[in-house]
This record gives sequence, C-alpha cells and structure tokens, in this order.
Amino acid sequence: MNGKSDRIMISKYTTLTGAEEDQRLDVQNSVLLHFDRDVYDNVFRKKDCPAILDVGCGTGNMIQKMLEGIASYKLIGVDKVERQIHIAEKTHTSGRFLTLDVEQEDFASLIRPVMEEEGIGGFDVINCSMVVLHMQNPIGALSRLRTLLAPNGTVVVRDIDDGLQYAWPDPERRFEKLFMMLEKDDRTGDRHCGRKIYSYLTNAGFQNIQLNKAGLASTSLKDKMLLFDLAIPALLHQYEQRHLDAPDNIQWKKDFEWFRDNIVAMKASFGKEDFIFSAGFMNFTAE
Ligand SMILES: C[S@@+](CC[C@H](N)C(=O)[O-])C[C@H]1O[C@@H](n2cnc3c(N)ncnc32)[C@H](O)[C@@H]1O
Repeated sequence: MNGKSDRIMISKYTTLTGAEEDQRLDVQNSVLLHFDRDVYDNVFRKKDCPAILDVGCGTGNMIQKMLEGIASYKLIGVDKVERQIHIAEKTHTSGRFLTLDVEQEDFASLIRPVMEEEGIGGFDVINCSMVVLHMQNPIGALSRLRTLLAPNGTVVVRDIDDGLQYAWPDPERRFEKLFMMLEKDDRTGDRHCGRKIYSYLTNAGFQNIQLNKAGLASTSLKDKMLLFDLAIPALLHQYEQRHLDAPDNIQWKKDFEWFRDNIVAMKASFGKEDFIFSAGFMNFTAE
C-alpha cells in the first residue's frame, strides 16, 4: 500500500479503500453502534435464525458487530471490491462473502444460486449501510433488492446527509469552512443522500417506510471526542492524499494546508463544555 489508499471509481463517485479506510470504518462502526443498535436488534430478533444480506459489506466488521448477541443467523455479504471480500472471508467465519456489484442488472440471478445453496428462500433482513450514497442508480438497485426479501422481510438503510451536520460555537468559522470544502468534494459519494432515501425506497416499491434516526449529536465529552475521531482525522488524511496525488493542483494544496493548520484548534473545540457537533447519519427501515 506504501501508506497510500487505493482509489477506485464507484459509479460517478470515487470512494476510498485500503487499510486507512478500513480503520476509519471501524471507528465509525464503534460510534454508530450506539446510534442505531436498537433498530438492528429489533429487525434481527423478529425471527429465529434470520437470513441476512449485507450489501456493500466491506470487511464485514459492521454487520458482525451488530450481530453480536444474536444466537443464530445465516449471513451473505456482498461487496464490489474483491479485496474487501478477501478480508471479510479471512476475518469472519460465520458468513458467506461474495464479490458482487449490486448495481449489476443480473445481480438477483447471480445471488439466487448462492441463496439456494444456503437454504435461503428470501432474506429476512437486507442491510445497506453507507452504500446507497455510492450508487449511480439507487432506485434500480433497491428495486432488485426488494425482490430478494422474504415475506415480512425488512431492508435497513443507514446513510448520510451533510444537511444534518453542524458545529457550534464556531467563532473562527473553521467548521463552516470545512463543511464547504466537503460540499465540493465528490470522493465520498452523495453527501446529501440521506434526504433522498425515503423517495428512493418509495419509488423502489417499498412499504411501511420508517425514518428511525436523523442526526448523531452528543453533549458528553467522551462521546464528543469519539465524534471527533470519527469525523475529522480521516478527512485530513484524505485531503493530504489528494494533495500528494496531484501536487500541482493549487486549490487542493491550499485545502490540505488549511486543514492541517486548523485541525488542532478543531479538536480543542470538541473538548469544550459548550460545544456541540452533529454528524448527518440517518437510519431507515422498510418492508
Ligand atoms: C463506506 S463503505 C461501508 C462499509 C460497511 N457497510 C459499513 O457500514 O461499514 C461502502 C462499501 O460499499 C461498497 N460498494 C459500493 N458500491 C457498491 C455496489 N454497487 N455493489 C456492492 N458494493 C458496493 C464499497 O466497495 C465499500 O466497501
């Protein structure tokens, strides 16, 4: 890896993969565990031994964390990046992991034989955590996924919307500037995806659509520092990487240098008693 992240094109967006991205996702998952664990628990416990499809499973760590305490289940994880699937296979013995692109027209026909082998007629839970934001045609993919649900099965969509992101007080307007930089950065998918999920699910034919959570903010010092760890250092790394990849791009150089010079002050804000930060995570379920 040479300390660099691989970059791959995912639809119209670029996403980051590689060891640093895996690490960032692990921090994200430990923070988000408290955000929507109850939602996952409820859907997993609707049935004994639920059949679960994890779409965009990455290294498999997210779903495994959520499944802790669930006695028995059948899990299939799919991700379009082979490297992620290899890690998932090595790390987790309880599950079957496949390199598959859910946006492929023939996704359903490719996964059905595997479902048959596993004795799965339809999935009781289909999980899409932080993956719809990377899709080119979310309605198409969600429509295909709907055909794979068992009767009374549930899809869970966890996604992000930067419209729910804020930081206050921000006297030097550092966070305002950072949020504006992110707004212009298309490497991390559609950062306004959260607001579109309800419409995507409706148009993909889902029913009983529930918005369970919208925005993750905390006032406790410990949780605020976790939110800092979740939201900020990995971004600095991404801006550094972008600058190193294109050293002649003056704007990207400026963005990185500004970020590097301000990150300590930003961290100090998270440690202040009167400071609040909200990250724009959202969680939906539908049938
Ligand atoms: C931000 S990561 C989220 C990983 C994990 N679900 C989590 O919540 O920690 C997005 C993952 O979705 C995968 N992905 C993106 N588009 C996909 C597609 N069309 N089909 C399958 N996987 C996809 C990426 O390769 C990446 O591993």
